[in-house]
Amino acid sequence: MISSVVFTSGYPTRLRGIGRRRLAFNDRINVLFGPNGSGKTTILKTLAAASGCGRGGWSDGRRPEPLPYGVKVERDAQPVFYQDCYRDSEKSFVGVDYLEAHAYLRSTGEKRIGLVNELVDDIEGRLRSRKLGRNERPTLLLDEVDNHVGFAGQSILWGDLFGRLSKRYQIIISTHSIFPVLLRRNSSLRQDNIVVLAERYAEICVLELGKAIKRFNATNALGIG
Ligand SMILES: Nc1ncnc2c1ncn2[C@@H]1O[C@H](COP(=O)(O)OP(=O)(O)O)[C@@H](O)[C@H]1O
Ligand SMILES: [Mg+2]
Repeated sequence: MISSVVFTSGYPTRLRGIGRRRLAFNDRINVLFGPNGSGKTTILKTLAAASGCGRGGWSDGRRPEPLPYGVKVERDAQPVFYQDCYRDSEKSFVGVDYLEAHAYLRSTGEKRIGLVNELVDDIEGRLRSRKLGRNERPTLLLDEVDNHVGFAGQSILWGDLFGRLSKRYQIIISTHSIFPVLLRRNSSLRQDNIVVLAERYAEICVLELGKAIKRFNATNALGIG
């Protein structure tokens, strides 16, 4: 598990949403939420480098890469997997094809649970390049891997899929999606930790979305074929 990161010198300390504050992570779902340039990739790359993940994929016991800025990462010896959305996007973490299938998106109850099980199997298939020991609980560092998932698929992704994955993996993920904010869970099973990297950013996004939906409801016309 990666428990925290704090930057002590260099450019990350000059980013307004990061500075010198200690960012703490829980054992389940942690979402880095902020606009472009707020430091999401900086944080994830740093955690990957400190864990010996190199440019992507599983940590392999190599020595952590030196970084051109000061940072302290608190972590244990569990394995770490790192993927960003730009490199290897064709081998993407999320199996988009059936996530976006309309029949599935409309599904409820057992059918939806079946879909989520399939998706979890699919994702774990991609992670199987490293065999996990019984007591291992890896961390997944995911940089905007949901970028190419359409709006409808986001609901399954954030409402169901990451919740299921977080039973077996600690997840630290950056995103531009508003869904993890809207669907945030706070229960005995799941306490989603939303790390907001720009002042009032979550409120502003929810407000703008609310205004758009209100306008849409007032005109009450889909008018699209
Ligand atoms: N190696 C670097 N040296 C100096 N500034 C950098 C470096 N890498 C990124 N930055 C700057 O840090 C800021 C945050 O970038 P980044 O972490 O990529 O944000 P995000 O992923 O949230 O879009 C940007 O202003 C970017 O230009
Ligand atoms: Mg980025």
